[in-house]
Formats: sequence, structure tokens, C-alpha cells
Amino acid sequence: MAEPIAVAEGVSRVYHVGREDVYAVREANWQIDAGRLIALQGRSGSGKTTLLNLTGGLDRPTAGTIRIMETDTRLLNDRELTMLRRHKIGFIFQAFALLPVLSAYENVELPMRIAGVGARKRHERALELLDLVGLSKRASHRPFELSGGEQGRVAIARALANEPALLLADEPTGDLDSVTGLQMMLLFSRIVRQEGVTVVMATHDLTVRDIADETFTMSDGVLSRWDPTQEDTTETISSLMREAEEGQWQQGRTQPPPQPPPPRN
Ligand SMILES: Nc1ncnc2c1ncn2[C@@H]1O[C@H](COP(=O)(O)OP(=O)(O)OP(=O)(O)O)[C@@H](O)[C@H]1O
Ligand SMILES: [Mg+2]
Repeated sequence: MAEPIAVAEGVSRVYHVGREDVYAVREANWQIDAGRLIALQGRSGSGKTTLLNLTGGLDRPTAGTIRIMETDTRLLNDRELTMLRRHKIGFIFQAFALLPVLSAYENVELPMRIAGVGARKRHERALELLDLVGLSKRASHRPFELSGGEQGRVAIARALANEPALLLADEPTGDLDSVTGLQMMLLFSRIVRQEGVTVVMATHDLTVRDIADETFTMSDGVLSRWDPTQEDTTETISSLMREAEEGQWQQGRTQPPPQPPPPRN
């Protein structure tokens, strides 16, 4: 069996805010195997971005071990971790983070410049990637001259520039309509098959479960593997309404809901 691309063992990330400790991730374990499309689901604030950043070496855990391609990241200094990230991992950030003054082509080419790739190879690879995501005709457009879905595709092409083994995508379909979002997911699926890249995608979008090889869920920092054979009752409208009301009440924005009168005997 091939070596796993990334492994988390007992990983926690605690943020200290004032006197409070926020457990963004609690003792998470997962193994990301090569050539798979993995979905990471969970409500806003459940810890998805934190776990992706830890898995990709953008952040370090408070406790536990992250291994990226068999390397224990605790053994790397910051510079070594940056080099590992630059050459092995592609990121698609929440809201894409394209550089607004650069064209689509230049955005895709930039990570290769940073990695010291020669001009000819950069040019060929940038054109190949724009073609892969169906944007050859938009190469000279700047991000504000592109639709949301097109910007997302430029972000995918940019993340693939240095031929990473692992692609981490944070809510890549967040602001897209459902059809464009589905097209984006099918593109990820194609990238996994064609480019042999492993993709981990954080998303609220439940349709990803039909496309992903494996789905994990996060709730209050706790990571679990989603079991498709178990009935999922968490997303019914009434349970969502109840949670939304309770959440508002806990945050003190509204009065607690009126209690029903006690039963009479
Ligand atoms: N830099 C930080 N300092 C303090 N707390 C943080 C920091 N970053 C995140 N958190 C807290 O950690 C928890 C997890 O945040 P995270 O961004 O990982 O959630 P998420 O699942 O990606 O949410 P969303 O779906 O809204 O993007 C939240 O409660 C958040 O407030
Ligand atoms: Mg997030």
C-alpha cells in the first residue's frame, strides 16, 4: 500500500483569546491516502479551516503530530516547512485570494516564479493549467473581470502550478450558485483522476458526499468520519431552526424562547 499523503494523530489547536481557551480542533485523527477526494464538512466555526491549515503545514498544532508525506512536521523548522509546502501542497483559500493586479495567467504563473521555475516551463505549464480549467480564453483577464466560478478555477490552476501531491481547498464553492458549484466539484474530481492529486475540500455543500471518496465531519472541533450507511437526521429544517434559535439565545442576542407552561396533573 502506498504511503499516506498526510496523517494527523491526536491533533489539537487551542487559541488563547483573553483568558479564554478556544479549542478550534480537539484531538483529531485522520489519514489522507493518495489519489483520493476527501470532503470535510461542518458548520461555520466548527474548525474546518484550522484543520486544513494544520494539515497543510500553514499552522502548527498545540498538541499531536502532523505527518506530511512521511515527514513529521515537528522535526522541520519554519523554513523547511515552507519549502515542503511550496513544493508538495497547493492551497485554495476561502474567497480564493487571487492577486487583483495580476491577470489570470500571471496569477497561475506566480507560484512557479517563487519556486524558481524557468520562463519556458512556467509559460507552458500556465497555459496547460488554464486549459485544464477551461479558461484559456480568459488568460489576460484580471480577477475583477471574471465571474466567481471563473475566479475559483483560476485559484485551482494556481494551486496546481507546482504539481503538488496534495491540494487543500477551503470552501471553493462557497459563493457559487449550485450548478456552478457542482461543476467546480466535478472539476476537482477530474483533477484527482487526471493529475493524480489528492484533494481535501472543506465545504458546506452536501452534494460533495456523492462525489467524494470519503467524507469527514467536524462539530465543535471534533472530527469524525461520516458513515453513509447511517441515517443523517442533523440537517432537517426543524432541527436547524431549533439550533439557530438556541445559538442566538446563547450568544445573548435575543431573549430565551418562552418556556411552555408546566403540565397540570
Ligand atoms: N486566530 C484565531 N484566534 C482565535 N480564535 C480563532 C482563530 N481562528 C479561528 N478561531 C476560532 O476557532 C474556531 C474554528 O474556526 P475555523 O475558522 O477553523 O472554522 P470553520 O469551520 O472554518 O468556519 P467557516 O465555515 O465559517 O469558515 C472558531 O470558533 C473561531 O472563532
Ligand atoms: Mg473556514
